[in-house]
This record gives sequence, C-alpha cells and structure tokens, in this order.
Amino acid sequence: MTEKDEVKIHDVRLGRDVLNDLNKWLDDQKITRKNIYVIADSNTARDCYPILEAVIGTDAKLITVEPVESSKSLEVVGQLVFKLSYQMADRDSLIINLGGGMITDLGGFVASVYMRGLRFVHIPTSLLGMADASVGGKTGINVLGIKNLIGTFDFPQEVFIHSPFLKTLPDEEWINGLAEVIKHAIIGSAELWEFLDKANIGTRISDDQKDSIMKLMPEIIRVKSDIVKEDVFDHGKRMALNFGHTLGHAIETAGNNGNTPISHGRAVAAGMICELYISEQMAGLDSAIRKKIENIITNIYGTWPNVERFKEHILFNIHNDKKRRQDKIMMSLLRNIGEPIVNVEVPMYQIMASVDYYTTL
Ligand SMILES: NC(=O)c1ccc[n+]([C@@H]2O[C@H](COP(=O)([O-])OP(=O)(O)OC[C@H]3O[C@@H](n4cnc5c(N)ncnc54)[C@H](O)[C@@H]3O)[C@@H](O)[C@H]2O)c1
Repeated sequence: MTEKDEVKIHDVRLGRDVLNDLNKWLDDQKITRKNIYVIADSNTARDCYPILEAVIGTDAKLITVEPVESSKSLEVVGQLVFKLSYQMADRDSLIINLGGGMITDLGGFVASVYMRGLRFVHIPTSLLGMADASVGGKTGINVLGIKNLIGTFDFPQEVFIHSPFLKTLPDEEWINGLAEVIKHAIIGSAELWEFLDKANIGTRISDDQKDSIMKLMPEIIRVKSDIVKEDVFDHGKRMALNFGHTLGHAIETAGNNGNTPISHGRAVAAGMICELYISEQMAGLDSAIRKKIENIITNIYGTWPNVERFKEHILFNIHNDKKRRQDKIMMSLLRNIGEPIVNVEVPMYQIMASVDYYTTL
C-alpha cells in the first residue's frame, strides 16, 4: 500500500484525484469531449455519471443499458453499435466504460469490435469491477445461455479507479465483489490473506472493513496484473485466476437459466468451496487450511440453497466450460495459500463429490 495520493500500477491508476488525471490524459491524447461515448448502466448513469460529467464537461454522449447481467448479450451489442453509429462514433472516438464488471465486459467488447476497434478506457465503479473485471484485458458477452462464450482480449488504454464511486455501491455488491478479493488472497497475497484471516467479516461488511479493502486495492490489483503480465492469453499461469470459477460459472449459469439468479461473487464463493474440496483430494491442500478458508467464505456467504436442486444442470454446464479440453475437465486448484496449480485434469466423479460435499454444509 502506498502513502501517495496517486499511484499507477500496470496502467491502472487509482487515487483521490484520478478523474482530474483522466481529464489531463484526454487533453494529452487530444480527444475532444464530443467524441467521447460513455457506456453506463442506469444505476451508474444516475450515481456516477454526474461526478464524471462535472470533471470532463457536458459534451460527451451517454449511452445507457439495463443494469442486469442479461445486458451482456448480442442483442444489446447490436443496440450499442446502432447508437454509436447513429451518433457518428468513428475511429477517433473514445469509449469510456463507466460501471461494474457487466459494463466493462460489454462496453469493452463493443469497443473492441466496433469499426474493428476503438480506443477505450474503463472506469470501474463496483468492487468487483475495480478488483478484477477492469484488469487483464478480457471482454465478454453471454450467448446461448453460456457465460462469456464470445469475447476478445483487448486492453483499455487506461483504467481509472475513483474509489469515492463506491459510496453508492449497495452492500450486497460489496459482498459480491469480495469473492474475487478472497480468491486473490488465497492464490497470491500474504498481505491480503493476513487481512482476511483477521478481519472476521460477516454477512455485512462494516465501514472500517470497507476502508481497509480500499486501502488494499493496489495489492488486490497487483495479484491479478502480475499474473496477467506473465500470461496475457491464458495458456498457463493466468489460469490460476480461474480458481473457483469452473464450478462458480456452472453454478451462476444454472441459477440464471433456472430463474434463480445468483450473483457472480456468490457463485464464485460456492465454486471455491467445491474446488477447495477437490484441492484437498487431488492437490494435497492441508485439511485444516481448507477448513479455515471455507469458514471465512461461509461466514460471509452462507451456502447457496439451490445447489442440490440444480445439480444436474451444474454438471451439464461443467461439460460446456471454456476451460474444457476435448473431453477433459481442466481446473486450477490450490496446493497451499499462495500456491495455485493450473491445468489439473479433474475426473467427473471428483466434481460430483465436491458438489455433494457442498450440499452437506
Ligand atoms: N473480464 C473479466 O476479467 C471479468 C472478471 C470478473 C468478472 N467479470 C464480469 O463482471 C460481471 C460482474 O460485475 P459486477 O459484479 O460489477 O456486476 P455489475 O456490473 O452488474 O454491477 C452490479 C450492480 O451494481 C451496480 N453498481 C455498480 N457500481 C455502482 C456504484 N458505484 N453505485 C451504485 N450502483 C453501482 C450496477 O448498476 C449493478 O446493479 C460479470 O458479468 C462477470 O462475468 C469479468
């Protein structure tokens, strides 16, 4: 953690004065404000855009989508392309994605394909957006009921993290974003792990805990950006970031398709519990450490009551996972705190056993 007001970490800027930094960056890049298109959802348009507008002026054009995961669709991509084209966006335009991970995934995708690619910057406004989705250059939309089935690798010019945006973030979204912070702690940060181990976070995050999380943001981002720098295109080390996500995505998709939506973070929390179980069976994770992490997760998230009901659906989704190679289910597991291992072939019976274990909690 830095004492400075402002730091720049791997093209991610954060600090109290970051929006003024954005303004200066726009001047440096000679981007006229009327050539800026801000993509937001209706919540971030209401709560965050006025703050951005007060800094960059009123000439930018705001395009708003519904604040739901289902906005990450081909249909909405088509609508955004239409609006950009209608409002004369061209290769010199800049797209600013102002929102949580849904907006950075969707807006990043549109920016990467519209006219074969426009410059874009992310201004993440949710904890999950700041801690994870805006870092690492992945865009994505959901197709055929499968999460992120279509997407691109495309890096924003810059990421500007303005922590005061979090003031309007609902408590449930703090909980949602915390799952990725937990993941970063267990795969790659002694400092974050120490915080989690001591913080005793329950079903609601206190204001002091929120402050601590914000202070740890540079470290949270470092874990991901260090891994991404070594393996941008996800062939090796980057897969460590998938810890909890094979089961997590399968659970999230089952919930969304079964009209019982579960947030990304809650699904990843459940997925981590299953994958910790598999890690103990297959990667030698110490049972006491597994239980300790599991307790931290269940103290915050409890357990998702629908896993039993959606079991078949969850297992079906695992078969469709992007991390599948031919018929093999490949996973990232945990050998110890800070020691993830990637590309482990996990037999289906272990996955089923982990889901069964989850339903006993
Ligand atoms: N590309 C990646 O590397 C990556 C990584 C992790 C997650 N993701 C994606 O991120 C998405 C989830 O992101 P999310 O959890 O941020 O969800 P989200 O973007 O849907 O935001 C959650 C809710 O919080 C609201 N919100 C956001 N910021 C706010 C603010 N400052 N004030 C008030 N309300 C605010 C939004 O309007 C929304 O209702 C998923 O689609 C997931 O696939 C992508």
